[in-house]
Amino acid sequence: MPLDIIVGTQWGDEGKGRVVDMLSARADYVARFNGGDNAGHTVTVGTQTFKLHLTPSGIIHPNTIGILGNGVVIYPETLLAEITMLRNYGVTVDPTRLRISHAAHLITPGHRALDRAQETARGKDQIGTTGRGIGPAYTDKTARRGIRMEEMLDESDFHRRMVAHIEEVNQTLARLYEVEPLDPSPIADQYADYAEKLRDYIGDTSALVWEALRRGQSVLAEGAQGTLLDLDHGTYPFVTSSSPLATGVMGGLGIGVGHVGRVIGVTKAFQSRVGAGPFPTEVQGDTAVRLRGTGANPWDEFGTTTGRPRRVGWLDGVLLRYAVRINGLTELVVTKLDVLSGLPEVRVCVAYRANGREYSDLPLGPADLSPFEPVYEDMPGWDADLTGVRSWGDLPAAAQNYLARISELSGVPVCQVSVGPEREQVVDV
Ligand code: GDP
Ligand code: IMO
Ligand code: MG
Repeated sequence: MPLDIIVGTQWGDEGKGRVVDMLSARADYVARFNGGDNAGHTVTVGTQTFKLHLTPSGIIHPNTIGILGNGVVIYPETLLAEITMLRNYGVTVDPTRLRISHAAHLITPGHRALDRAQETARGKDQIGTTGRGIGPAYTDKTARRGIRMEEMLDESDFHRRMVAHIEEVNQTLARLYEVEPLDPSPIADQYADYAEKLRDYIGDTSALVWEALRRGQSVLAEGAQGTLLDLDHGTYPFVTSSSPLATGVMGGLGIGVGHVGRVIGVTKAFQSRVGAGPFPTEVQGDTAVRLRGTGANPWDEFGTTTGRPRRVGWLDGVLLRYAVRINGLTELVVTKLDVLSGLPEVRVCVAYRANGREYSDLPLGPADLSPFEPVYEDMPGWDADLTGVRSWGDLPAAAQNYLARISELSGVPVCQVSVGPEREQVVDV
């Protein structure tokens, strides 16, 4: 059995967590390969709702082993709180069920302080980060001064390393941002305690995944964030600091390219974004409230990690086709189709217009979308409540047509559609 990959095709929050949960029923390993606790993946099982930031969503299925690959950045406080939360819900999480790469990097309170200070310094040009220290942690990694999980294994030196790191951060905080320094000693003590708790989880996950694939076991790679938040190929600089793309899996897990099977793109039936940056199909006013919801439902568009209201808009076919290309997607799963019920018309962006010309593809990537105006196609909506639908034939014709158009615009088949947050609320196409 090969390696299947699940990535978001938009700006995150497409419903990756629930799709990973669905496919994990038949997976042996579920692995996060990028990002950190900036992610918020929601899985609803019956009356229980799990919001997972670091632990792979597949861990809820007892048949899986969760992996945090080397491409992930780890804030131990979040991870340990999540392990406790899962145990309280009866999910077994121990070093036999969760493995952490020795080469994954740590996020520290220093990184979080830098994230906040840098956002404040950006003034009106803020990225709107999640404030989780993601950018500074990856900056330290690429600057070759980051702290890796394996350093937690060296009891004699880890405390000193942490103190030196916080002292270094303090210099930047004071000199560049005029921010109060952090006290290194209690932070280093705290991290020594985390090291104690996490030590047994740390190992060579790259070798583990390789051996699993060689045995013919199945591995699911769970992307965090989304295509348009990719550091290189997203709406730069309004992006995250890692690669959420399918190609990020190889580097982020430490495996070769030869094992890949399905590459599944998760696409919300409309579009959302938290944080700043371009969003050509964004809507305002009543339509925005209609797509976002008011917060009355758990699935309404408010950030899983920060609680911020998400910006919303119509599905962007140009960006979706881009996501298919840049990830090499083999298929799509469309989520939240139920939310569109009751709209008289559903709009989809089929091309961009600029300077009297129409573009069906981006001429220069998605970083600068300011010249473009979306060209919309209006499709008839449907009234029926879809939340109880379980088969393609029971979907209203207008909903079927909308999905067919998504498939046509993207160039790949839609293999599944979700019609509610619950595990069972899925239609095979
Ligand atoms: P992720 O970051 O991609 O895993 O997505 P989030 O969990 O941040 O956001 C997706 C939200 O939509 C969550 O509240 C899910 O429970 C919810 N959700 C997922 N699929 C569906 C669906 O088909 N219908 C509805 N109504 N909600 C959904
Ligand atoms: P999941 O996995 C949506 C956004 C932030 C901000 C930008 C940079 O739940 O889909 P960062 O803290 O990463 O430096 O912030 O990226 N962002 C997300 N938006 N879903 C996410 O994760 C996100 N992770 C980061 O809002 O715009
Ligand atoms: Mg999310």
